[in-house]
Amino acid sequence: MLIPPPLSLYVHLPWCVRKCPYCDFNSHEAKGALPFDGYVDALIRDLDQDLPLVWGRTIHSVFFGGGTPSLFPADRIDRFLQAASSRLRFAPNLEITLETNPGTAEHGRFDQYRAAGVNRISFGIQSFDDECLKRLGRIHDSDQAERAVKLAQDAGFDNFNLDLMYALPGQDLAMAERDLQRAFALEPTHVSHYQLTLEPNTMFFARPPQGLPDEDLAWDMQEHCQALLAAAGYAQYEVSAYARPGRECAHNLNYWRFGDYLGIGAGAHGKITLGAGQDILRRWKTRHPAAYLAEAGTAASLGGDERIAPQRRPFEFMLNALRLNQGFALGDFEAWTGLPRQAIAAPLAEARARGWLSQTADRVAPTEQGRRFTNDVVSLFLEQR
Ligand SMILES: C[S@@+](CC[C@H](N)C(=O)[O-])C[C@H]1O[C@@H](n2cnc3c(N)ncnc32)[C@H](O)[C@@H]1O
Ligand code: SF4
Repeated sequence: MLIPPPLSLYVHLPWCVRKCPYCDFNSHEAKGALPFDGYVDALIRDLDQDLPLVWGRTIHSVFFGGGTPSLFPADRIDRFLQAASSRLRFAPNLEITLETNPGTAEHGRFDQYRAAGVNRISFGIQSFDDECLKRLGRIHDSDQAERAVKLAQDAGFDNFNLDLMYALPGQDLAMAERDLQRAFALEPTHVSHYQLTLEPNTMFFARPPQGLPDEDLAWDMQEHCQALLAAAGYAQYEVSAYARPGRECAHNLNYWRFGDYLGIGAGAHGKITLGAGQDILRRWKTRHPAAYLAEAGTAASLGGDERIAPQRRPFEFMLNALRLNQGFALGDFEAWTGLPRQAIAAPLAEARARGWLSQTADRVAPTEQGRRFTNDVVSLFLEQR
């Protein structure tokens, strides 16, 4: 019998002022006035279509991601949250995050986002070096980034994340360190520290920028920055995520723990354990904003509906859970995949023998070696084994 795990709500807002050359997210340059009201209407139709999948369940976190959600005026975020909370039970004090590009943060808006119920902001900072920001095609400079964070703090946001990237074109170790020092000065509760990757279908992939650090330098940056983050009181809990005690991102933790989530909006993905049965459903929505606006709430808006077959569940579970330093409880594996722990006994034993996983009583966690070779560890759990 499957016990449904906690349920989150992801809302995708797909527009940006300008497309960044490294970005492969479903984000589209805003040309002219955006159809804010039409899009909120489409989100609500989309949610109504998904509701039968989650009757009676409670939402434990909400995340507005993008794209650039901060392009949306607060009254539209408010309208969506009111519609959602009238249809679904919201847990008391649930985390509600809004991704923000510092180049779109206008005075006054943060108060209004707070009044709408948003209680966590995630800023796309990337770097505090103006040259690096230019090379990344960002629409803001470092002063604007600092001002945006201070505006949010003045509006009462005490829980916020800064996204930083490292291994940037032209960046050396000292520059990566300076980025962190400027981040620490703003006292975020959370830092996401990503290595820049060249993703297919991006401008950087087609024409890589000059001066990218080589693998050794990128590795040095990662190790050095990990140590600086730890010394500043940010504990690493996932590959790229660091938090002050108790300030881990509840929404992302639910993904990594193989929790359930509704995915609403253009190109959004959801994963839902179906109550009475033995099924886990993945559902995703049509990607392009214009098609989504027209089709949301109808069968045509479903880009796909797929069951996760039992043989595939160990792999999908590990893909997420082994990103976490803490790993997972075997009891959660059983409850949320519907499989007995014996189903993974052989690959678990092999991963332990190779020194990639450690096991204590009911918990399994990646070792330092395991964290270096996550792909190899996870592939042990592929169905053909
Ligand atoms: C969907 S973006 C949200 C933030 C917002 N759109 C912005 O850019 O200001 C999430 C984060 O992913 C990271 N990211 C995006 N593309 C990346 C890449 N190619 N390599 C590494 N990190 C990337 C960036 O740090 C970015 O802030
Ligand atoms: S602002 Fe964020 S989502 Fe938009 S293109 Fe840049 S990185 Fe991608």
